[in-house]
Amino acid sequence: MRISVIGCGYLGAVHAAAMGSLGHDVVGVDVNSIKIDALAAGCAPFYEPGLPELLDEVADTGRVRFTTDIAAVAGAAVHFVCVGTPQKRGEFGADLAYVHAAVDQLLPHLQPGDVVVGKSTVPVGTAEQLAEQLAPTGATLIWNPEFLREGFAVKDTLHPDRFVYGLPHAEHGVPTPEGLAAKALLDEVYATPLSEGIPLVVTDYATAQLVKVAANSFLATKISFINAMAELCEATGADVTSLADAIGHDERIGRRFLNAGLGFGGGCLPKDIRAFMARAGELGADQALSFLREVDSINMRRRVRMVDLAREVCHGSIVGRRVAVLGAAFKPDSDDVRDSPALSVAAQMQLQGAHVTVTDPQAIGNARAAWPSLKFSDTVMGAVAGADVVLLATEWSEYRELDPDELGAVVAERRILDGRNVLDPARWRTAGWTYRALGRP
Ligand code: NAD
Ligand code: UGA
Repeated sequence: MRISVIGCGYLGAVHAAAMGSLGHDVVGVDVNSIKIDALAAGCAPFYEPGLPELLDEVADTGRVRFTTDIAAVAGAAVHFVCVGTPQKRGEFGADLAYVHAAVDQLLPHLQPGDVVVGKSTVPVGTAEQLAEQLAPTGATLIWNPEFLREGFAVKDTLHPDRFVYGLPHAEHGVPTPEGLAAKALLDEVYATPLSEGIPLVVTDYATAQLVKVAANSFLATKISFINAMAELCEATGADVTSLADAIGHDERIGRRFLNAGLGFGGGCLPKDIRAFMARAGELGADQALSFLREVDSINMRRRVRMVDLAREVCHGSIVGRRVAVLGAAFKPDSDDVRDSPALSVAAQMQLQGAHVTVTDPQAIGNARAAWPSLKFSDTVMGAVAGADVVLLATEWSEYRELDPDELGAVVAERRILDGRNVLDPARWRTAGWTYRALGRP
């Protein structure tokens, strides 16, 4: 199948390479020539485990091309829209300018029978508008939200938990014949993963768009729930990690996404819950999602609490104190620093007078671009040398395995803040460290 992928960021680059590995002929298009040059040279433009190998694999086949020229999509039968939908400046709503620009640019190249597949995360109602815009071309829109996690993007793209297709429906509630024909084409694209028995939910546009933001809202709520429990643990001397283990044994609750700490960041969860609230407001259903405002507040409070904790261990003031922040990415195994809790805390401490040095195995380049005023070190030892307090902010495996004695030899004061609840408190305390964490005694 000839396929185009419009937008080659964290989602689209992996999608393009993955579709190539499934045997399709793929052209990936992006307006960012730096990303395209890297991809065209077979290099991943960001850190994503497994992506370099996937790009190598498809480079050998010659089936995947990357270009900035949108005209290259002509002749493809299926076009995936993977452009960004960031939060609008100063508003909760999603900025759909990139989606509209991408579809506008696609229009002249579409043929009757082509399928346009929406993968970007959009407010419900967007697909219906885009479908109307596409109608004169004879192309059909399917809304096919993406559920990949950064760090696991290759596996999640090739072996997702589920596929969701939102098809155009006629007034009486059944998919239109064009919708069914488009579905058959998309089934062909995903034939290999579908043959593994991965569940496929076929529904209408509105449901497909809602599924995506509902899933992210649920995940965000789960994290904020455990972080709210962490606040209670702090007030009572209880331990949120044991609490999470104990409630997580109940299969109805489950232990995943119950890790208390600095909370959620990234290019998706924060902006998606806000865009969902904004859209609910437009639909007159804002009450239904008022709890998400609390989810957001709990999440943001954790960052403030972490700065307070740093102040506490430094006997009331961080002014002039040297703070080492381990981690800049919003989560391990990614170089993505969008709305990174680690950088947000680092910047707040710097603003409050601390001398902050940040390190990260992969995200320093992006972090420096986003926060040029922060100081960075390429190594843990460089960051912690002379530190009055060390903050573990992103739980990279190398930080989980740090040796308290080795670190203790270079810091000024043995004080560690475990922002992700991943260190063994007893081990660090035995080595003479003051160990503090969110939601733990
Ligand atoms: P990103 O910023 O990494 O990538 C978006 C890309 O689109 C950029 O490279 C940008 O240059 C490009 N672009 C913008 N306008 C364009 C145009 N007119 N033509 C061609 N390219 C254009 O963002 P992302 O993280 O890949 O997210 C993309 C979408 O996917 C968002 O809606 C996001 O919510 C959703 N999503 C992302 C993930 C994830 O893990 N990153 C997972 C699921 C869904
Ligand atoms: C999230 C979803 O998990 C994906 O399913 C979705 O496709 C994606 O958003 C998206 O829409 O873009 P991702 O942003 O890659 O994926 O990262 P997650 O693993 O969900 O982590 C999000 C944030 O929550 C991170 O900052 C992480 O540190 C934090 N987190 C996660 C916690 O604080 N506690 C947890 O228990 C789990």
